[in-house]
Amino acid sequence: MPSSRTLLAAATLAMASTASVAQAANEVNIYSYRQAFLIQPLLEEFSKDTGIQVNLVTGGNGLLERLEHEGRNSPADILLTAEIGPLYDATEKGLVSAVQSDELNASIPQHYRDPEGRWFGLTARSRIVYASKDRVVEGELTRYEDLADPKWKGRICTRSGKHTYNLSLIASVVAHHDEAYAEQWLEGVKANLARKPQGNDRSQVKAVMEGVCDLALGNSYYFGKMLTNDKQPEQKEWAQSVNLVFPNQADRGAHMNISGAAVTQHAPNRDNAIKLIEFLASEKAQTIYAEANSEFPVRPGTPNSALIDEYMGNFKGDEINLNELGPLRTVASRLVDKVGFDN
Ligand SMILES: [Fe+2]
Repeated sequence: MPSSRTLLAAATLAMASTASVAQAANEVNIYSYRQAFLIQPLLEEFSKDTGIQVNLVTGGNGLLERLEHEGRNSPADILLTAEIGPLYDATEKGLVSAVQSDELNASIPQHYRDPEGRWFGLTARSRIVYASKDRVVEGELTRYEDLADPKWKGRICTRSGKHTYNLSLIASVVAHHDEAYAEQWLEGVKANLARKPQGNDRSQVKAVMEGVCDLALGNSYYFGKMLTNDKQPEQKEWAQSVNLVFPNQADRGAHMNISGAAVTQHAPNRDNAIKLIEFLASEKAQTIYAEANSEFPVRPGTPNSALIDEYMGNFKGDEINLNELGPLRTVASRLVDKVGFDN
């Protein structure tokens, strides 16, 4: 005999399928690398405003492969990512389609969207240096380039060089110099590591607090996430042990990355998909979306959260178009192997 839970699930499924047939034109389906809690409140707001039902599929890995495998039959209308990497890969594989939207072009600065409209950045973050308050004098480190300076020998912590965040940063060094320079730089940084690359961004800041290293690479939003972490209050101490360094303020600016969205190649609800991305780039959504993860809004003129204003309000970000970094990520990955960065 089926349990009541099974019956309930079956009933819900029946209702859902009836609804989806009846409202086929009034829904939009998202494949999201972003965690649900970061976007759910906004999606509800969108549904309330427009009557369009949003169906969200989240997953850490494999969404691109799923999209590719499903091909024309994919229900996905929007690919939502937490970084430029998968957006760029999806674009290269022809899994997403160009969108011409005056609204999106006006809302999102040029360097945060594809020149052909195949992807759009929706929130921004910088890859910064977390520097020990006790052991690094303010102003002592000012450029990514200086991380290769022997004065930092045995004093730097980072996660794997192969992680997508680091690949984008290394790609930006290739873009602003050249491959040969980047290789030498990466070798220099490797020589300065306090330990074999490991863990995630937050655990590097922990290592700074513990005295394992003095400088750590990490995305800027982790500072906010640590500083306000009531569930794991020890993370507040990690955050309080460091100063934030936004590198290259006197030249190109700190390396920037985005979370973003693209409309899929075979989107069954293409118009709704565009509407939703326009909503996420709107004034109303931008503050909430950025604040949910301590990120920066991409829309010019959108106020920052109080936390961002207090700790990272004014800095210069690199304005290179992230499309330029796309192909260089492969070069970066090769260099990481070549110098044995993770060994
Ligand atoms: Fe992250």
